[in-house]
Amino acid sequence: SETGSLAIVVLGASGDLAKKKTFPALYHLYRQGFLPADEVHIFGYARTKISDDELRSRLHGYLVQDKDASPEQLDVLSKFLHLIKYVSGSYDSEEGFRVLDKEISEHESSKNSSEGSSRRLFYFALPPSVYPSVSKMIKTCCVNKSDLHGWTRIVVEKPFGKDLESAEQLSTQIGKLFDEPQIYRIDHYLGKELVQNMLVLRFANRMFLPLWNRDNIANVQIVFREDFGTDGRGGYFDQYGIIRDIIQNHLLQVFCLLAMEKPVSLKPEHIRDEKVKVLESVVPIKDDEVVLGQYEGYRDDPTVPDNSNTPTFASVILRVHNERWEGVPFILKAGKALGSRKADVRVQFKDVPGDIFKCQKQGRNEFVIRLQPHEAMYMKLTVKQPGLEMSTVQSELDLSYRQRYQGAPIPEAYERLILDTIRGDQQHFVRRDELKASWKIFTPLLHRIDKGEFKSVSYKPGSRGPAQADELLEKAGYVQTHGYIWIPPTL
Ligand code: BG6
Repeated sequence: SETGSLAIVVLGASGDLAKKKTFPALYHLYRQGFLPADEVHIFGYARTKISDDELRSRLHGYLVQDKDASPEQLDVLSKFLHLIKYVSGSYDSEEGFRVLDKEISEHESSKNSSEGSSRRLFYFALPPSVYPSVSKMIKTCCVNKSDLHGWTRIVVEKPFGKDLESAEQLSTQIGKLFDEPQIYRIDHYLGKELVQNMLVLRFANRMFLPLWNRDNIANVQIVFREDFGTDGRGGYFDQYGIIRDIIQNHLLQVFCLLAMEKPVSLKPEHIRDEKVKVLESVVPIKDDEVVLGQYEGYRDDPTVPDNSNTPTFASVILRVHNERWEGVPFILKAGKALGSRKADVRVQFKDVPGDIFKCQKQGRNEFVIRLQPHEAMYMKLTVKQPGLEMSTVQSELDLSYRQRYQGAPIPEAYERLILDTIRGDQQHFVRRDELKASWKIFTPLLHRIDKGEFKSVSYKPGSRGPAQADELLEKAGYVQTHGYIWIPPTL
């Protein structure tokens, strides 16, 4: 692997994302030895005029997780914080970026002994409105020094645009400055353990191969629930809504991994080719296969307009026009301010043909992948009720990670993805054509919602969301299992 000087620049260093996700991920990587102090320097950049020490002390508060951190841990933390330098400047003028370049260059010459290297990673923890100008400034002032071996990469977060047109415009602007292999579009769901596992599950197990199609699968649900509302992010959220915030990106990525064909190999480009193909096979969404909701009290947020129609809940059926999936509904559902916090995938199989147990069965076979919390996968199946009688009961084959992989902590999504950007692995990042295909699916619906032509129905905070969503699910052919709840095992 590559060695030598590595500069990680966090743009928007004083913002929320940087504090909550980027810096903690960098700290965790540092603790595990992935960011060697003799190579790495971290630069925070933002408009706020503060000193290095002020940024460090702000971050300190976020990074100390439990109050009883041991002296050793505190020592590691303080060493990490001393790798961080801060540069203040605006996002649209060269001045600040020239200073940043000078700082990085100084660091490069101090870290390089015999053989020079200039690896520069720019992480955009920024509002998307400044992406074009910041990209321009980096290209003009801060790219790696060509006489040294190295690279320049940029890492961008969603939202990448608001619809097909604006996303393509943004892609074109950035694409004029950087080549696709330099651009890492993060969708943090791709960094989740069980999302990464999907490729393995689907293509490394003979058991699933003959079952994974329209002959056997009745319907698939991909569900995201949060038990809190927009919590102070109302102003931002209201311009986007739940489809752009969760469905068009996170849930659609999960959909791709579930529905795509087998890639030619594990090469990132081969995997991404398959994702694009399945996205392009999705047919236009039908009005009667969409339910939108908004929780009561959402508009009480002073930053949300009183007449907002922005959905905080949506259930959308996607249909794939290909040989494997014709006729199988994929139900993508996401909501804020619901009764629980979890994300899972539920694959429901068809009934047993000529079933001699039909009259006593509780339900169908299901394969459930619990993305969070308590990572698990379990398979619901009918077994004989233990005992003297010949009756049946719904049970499960259960792979709960906490139990099965005790003492093996699951890395945070951002941690893994940032490491990939340093290593140059784009497998878990969204390619330009993939992004375009995903916007194509949702743009017509989004435009109608934005114009107020498609209304959100209200639902009670803490509920399951609008009752219409359950009706839609039933209409799509989902059969509820009666009298069965899966209880995650406790240790
Ligand atoms: C973000 C959304 O992308 O994902 C948030 O903007 C949401 O609204 C978050 O809360 C959920 O991520 P996770 O990892 O907690 O499921």
